[in-house]
Amino acid sequence: MSEIKLKDKIFELFISENEINDIISHMAYNINDSGIKNPLFIAVLNGSFLFASDIIRKINLENTEISFVKLASYLGTESTGEVKELIGMNQDISRRNIVVLEDIIDTGNTLEKIVSLLKSQNVNQIKIATLLFKPDAYKKDISIDYIGKEIPNDFVVGYGLDYDQIGRNLPHIYKLKE
Ligand code: IMP
Ligand code: MG
Repeated sequence: MSEIKLKDKIFELFISENEINDIISHMAYNINDSGIKNPLFIAVLNGSFLFASDIIRKINLENTEISFVKLASYLGTESTGEVKELIGMNQDISRRNIVVLEDIIDTGNTLEKIVSLLKSQNVNQIKIATLLFKPDAYKKDISIDYIGKEIPNDFVVGYGLDYDQIGRNLPHIYKLKE
């Protein structure tokens, strides 16, 4: 289907399941080529659940591990404002070589939070892998090591990405129709 309707919006086919598969194979090739020792992949839920499950099966680095986190934001009980936390990060990651798996990097706010939380755990190395990247929206200077595909500032859904929590199950990626 080249067009779909989710709630009140129409989306058009943007990246097919086949193209996604090719992009991920290419990313996995580059990550394997890096030779990272005993890597701990950390997939950021919910959006990256399909990406993580597909790419991890193409990783052939020795002693590969994967774990899943969610970024939680709470309102501070005092005047501290917003507190972010990696929920699910219940193992010792000090001195580990981390590869963060993200579905999409837009402004980079989420990435910045994750990187600072990981750094505070004294990890050895942090590499970032994202399926999609919006260079025109990105406002940070954290370098992104593995980028699947750069896309314009369009809103996309499918393959893990949601519009108001729906659309994550779609096998293709769609973009909002103007
Ligand atoms: P950032 O913190 O601005 O980089 O955006 C991160 C989060 O916003 C992502 O993990 C997604 O959950 C969401 N997001 C950004 N762009 C899109 C999009 O085009 N479609 C769906 N979700 C998006
Ligand atoms: Mg989302």
